[in-house]
Amino acid sequence: MADDRNPVRLAALHPKPDTAMSARILDGKTLAERLKADLGARVAARVALGLPRPGLAVVLVGENAASQIYVRNKRKFTEAANMRSFSHDLSADTSEAELLALIDKLNADPLVHGILVQLPLPKQIDPERVTERIDPAKDVDGFHPYNIGRLVLKRPILRPCTPYGCMRLLAETGEDLVGKHAVIIGQSNIVGRPMALELLMARCTVTVCHSATRDLAGIVRQADVLVAAVGKAYFVAADWIKPGAIVIDVGMNRDAEGRLCGDVDRRAAERAAWITPVPGGVGPMTIAMLLANTLTAAELQDSA
Ligand code: GUN
Repeated sequence: MADDRNPVRLAALHPKPDTAMSARILDGKTLAERLKADLGARVAARVALGLPRPGLAVVLVGENAASQIYVRNKRKFTEAANMRSFSHDLSADTSEAELLALIDKLNADPLVHGILVQLPLPKQIDPERVTERIDPAKDVDGFHPYNIGRLVLKRPILRPCTPYGCMRLLAETGEDLVGKHAVIIGQSNIVGRPMALELLMARCTVTVCHSATRDLAGIVRQADVLVAAVGKAYFVAADWIKPGAIVIDVGMNRDAEGRLCGDVDRRAAERAAWITPVPGGVGPMTIAMLLANTLTAAELQDSA
C-alpha cells in the first residue's frame, strides 16, 4: 500500500501539534557555578602548597555601558574563585602608547598571570596591536595570534573563552559530536572563527555563515548543532531549526520590550533537543572559562 494511504505512516509523517518536542535546557549558570567552585578549590590547594594565587588584570578603557557590566562580572567572579583581581580603568581618551605601556608593565609583573583588555576599544587604539602586545603566556582571552595558531594546529593552550564555554556546554549534552553538521552564524575573531576551529577539532563538519551567505535558512535547517552569534534579537526563526538539533545561542540583545534575549526565536525550544537560555546560558560560561584559563596560565608560569 502507498504511504499516503497507510494511517500509521501518515501519523508519523504528520505528527499532531501536541507531539511537539520540548528542548532540554543547557543551564550555563548552574554549570558555571560548579566550575567556579572547582576552580576555587584548586586555587586553595595551590596556595596551601606555597604556590602563588592566580592573578587576573582586567583593563577597561572608556565607558561603554555593556563593557562596564561585563568587566564588573569578570572581576567579581575572579575574587569568588579565590583569585587575585587587578583593576585598571582608563579614560576614553587614553592613547594607544599609554595602553601599550600598561600592558608592558603587566607582562613584567609576576603577580599577574592573566591579562584581559576588554573590547571594543576607543577608535584611536588599534585592537590588533594591543592583542599582539600581550604576552601569549598571559593571554587569557586566547586572542593572540600564537594562541589562535595553537588552536588551528589542534594543540590549544589558552582558548578563546566563549567558544571554549560553548564546547563545555555541548559536552554536557552527552551527545557524540563526531560527524555532526555544525553551523555557525557569525565569523568574528572572538566567537565565530575560534568556534569553527573548536568544532572541527571535535570532528564536526563545520559550516560558517555570515552576512554574504546565500540561503542562510536552508543551511541552518541542516544543522545538527547550531551556534548563533549574530547580535540581533530573534534573528533565527524557530522553523529554521532542525528537529532534534542542539542550539547554542551566543546572542545577548534587548528585544522591542527591552527584555534581554538571544539571537534565536524562543519557540526554537519546541523543535530543538537542547537549547541554551538567554540570559543564563553562554554568558556565565564565558567567565568560567576565563577563570579556567587564568588558572592554566598560572600553572604554566609556575614551571616557566
Ligand atoms: N568583548 C566582548 N567579548 C569579549 C571577550 O570575550 N573578551 C574581551 N577582551 N572583550 C570582549
